[in-house]
Amino acid sequence: MKRIAVLLSGRGSNFEALLACTAVGDFPGEIVVVGANRTDARGIETARQAGIATFCLAHRDYPQREEFDRALRETLEPYRPDLVVLAGFMRILTPGFVDFYAGRMLNIHPSLLPAFPGLHTHERALAEGVRIHGCTVHFVTADLDHGPIVIQAAVPVLPGDGVDELASRVLRVEHRIYPQAVRWFCEGRLSLNEGRVALAPSAWPRSAMPELVVPQGA
Ligand code: GRF
Repeated sequence: MKRIAVLLSGRGSNFEALLACTAVGDFPGEIVVVGANRTDARGIETARQAGIATFCLAHRDYPQREEFDRALRETLEPYRPDLVVLAGFMRILTPGFVDFYAGRMLNIHPSLLPAFPGLHTHERALAEGVRIHGCTVHFVTADLDHGPIVIQAAVPVLPGDGVDELASRVLRVEHRIYPQAVRWFCEGRLSLNEGRVALAPSAWPRSAMPELVVPQGA
């Protein structure tokens, strides 16, 4: 059973989707701690209600980025995470932190990378008139939103879409692919080779493969 730490800054719907999946049957990982850089992050309350250990480290209390990241690492490490899952964690992490968790830290980004790294991805996709948009789960590297890609999901951009419609269409698929990527990691099936992700075949016969459980409303 792999030990998963989740970091978030707000709503926490990706954390909720992961929690719903880990809570079912044979998921090969458990969420051991949820941390936030904001005391008002809704995801922290969700974690508390689920009986998961939580912490808040207000980044404003740390004038230097390095100091915050050192405190974050010192807070995380006693939980001995095998995997750090960034789920809407709105912080740029220092190279030292990223290197320490190299190959064992995932992020989800709301675009089909390498298109639209950074913020306001849905607005930018609409402004560019793209027909296909989506989301990406990737390993975190020091290059913002540029790490090796684990899985992507695409959705259509429909006539009349506004930011909210597009964002919620993308979010529904985020809730499917992030738990899938975490499951693969926990099964030990992901490896990195020259900056590319390889997925090893499942040890399960196809007929016995556990279904990905998607939480209600997703
Ligand atoms: C998601 O859109 C995710 O792709 C991005 O931040 C958002 C977090 O949403 N990194 P939530 O807090 O998981 O609901």
